Amino acid sequence: MTGKSQTKSKERVREHGEVFTAEREVKAMCDLVKDETERIDSRFLEPACGDGNFLAEILTRKLAVVRKKYGKSPLDYEKNAVLAASSIYGVDILQDNVDACRKRMFEIWNKEYSAVCKKECSDQTRDAVRFILSRNIVCGNALTLKCVDENGNDTDEPIVFSEWSFITGSSMQRCDYTFEELLADNAPDKGGQQSLFNQEKNPEGKFLKRYISHYRRVQEND
Ligand SMILES: C[S@@+](CC[C@H](N)C(=O)[O-])C[C@H]1O[C@@H](n2cnc3c(N)ncnc32)[C@H](O)[C@@H]1O
Repeated sequence: MTGKSQTKSKERVREHGEVFTAEREVKAMCDLVKDETERIDSRFLEPACGDGNFLAEILTRKLAVVRKKYGKSPLDYEKNAVLAASSIYGVDILQDNVDACRKRMFEIWNKEYSAVCKKECSDQTRDAVRFILSRNIVCGNALTLKCVDENGNDTDEPIVFSEWSFITGSSMQRCDYTFEELLADNAPDKGGQQSLFNQEKNPEGKFLKRYISHYRRVQEND
């Protein structure tokens, strides 16, 4: 067999159903929604993301599009590469998977960013992307919608996701919603589309918090 192992231990398979998807299947499944994987701002959420096999493939595809469209303009590239990273979400119940997923996503992002923007790269933007990934890839229980502690047990804290969007020029808005509320807004009996943040169904006032800042400084609203 080639590629990385699909399991880490019998115990993890038994307790958490942890079997990683092989690269070939990941690519084939992403091809089923190819157009969406190549739309820079289309939002993806994987509720059992492991170390990010699907999320890494989606980020790679989005960044290829960003490079193709904006590769000649470092500023436009940077902004759109941030947008690509900010639209990808994951949950896993195991902290080591979450850490590995965030690291992997950042490395993919940073490799591309460094190759395209070269001397124009900003460490502040790198920190912004690390922060976005830390909010988007969450350690939690996707069944109870709660954050979990270091033993994988539910806490009282709800899983919260941030919706990131550019509002004008370089200003980025972050709105925080509980996962529970997002799912309720997307329930089939409410006629909801399967979109993570449904603007029409999340009118003003439903989010928990809203922040607006330059996209390079989103990490200052911690
Ligand atoms: C079958 S693996 C899939 C991992 C990854 N999506 C992939 O395809 O390679 C299932 C993952 O779900 C996680 N998991 C199990 N129960 C969960 C729960 N209640 N909430 C969130 N994640 C969970 C496990 O830790 C494991 O990483």
